[in-house]
Amino acid sequence: MKTSNTVLAAILALSGAPIFAEGTVPDLEFGTKTYKDFCSHCHGLNMVNPGTSSYDLRKWPRDNKPDFLHAVANGKGDMPAWGDILLPGELEALWVYVATRAGTEPLPEE
Ligand code: HEC
Repeated sequence: MKTSNTVLAAILALSGAPIFAEGTVPDLEFGTKTYKDFCSHCHGLNMVNPGTSSYDLRKWPRDNKPDFLHAVANGKGDMPAWGDILLPGELEALWVYVATRAGTEPLPEE
């Protein structure tokens, strides 16, 4: 059973379709909403950079959660700090969103 799921996930990843049905990855739906509300006007809808100077979040290393949380909470360069605005659960959900590339890749192991 586990093997067939892995194969299925690989096939879906190659096809570019979201691997996860809505709700199967904890926080993905919530992360998507949080991203739209707080991040998309600078980083672009679906992380597609609108051509501004904002960092392209699709390039963020999927194995580096600590620096992501740190940069988002404390701000970086021209980006404001979000630590006083977002709840810890919202930061976690944003990580799920960015690390799975909006649900198109599996959540990296911690
Ligand atoms: C007001 C515009 C703006 C908003 C809103 C914004 N960002 Fe940014 N963000 C930036 C800019 C500009 C940079 C590039 C900062 C730099 O390197 O000078 C950046 C960089 C980043 C980086 C890379 C930091 C690094 O270490 O290089 C991450 C991660 C990030 N943003 C995540 C987020 C998330 C998650 C949100 C939503 C909570 C968000 N940003 C909202 C403008 C914004």
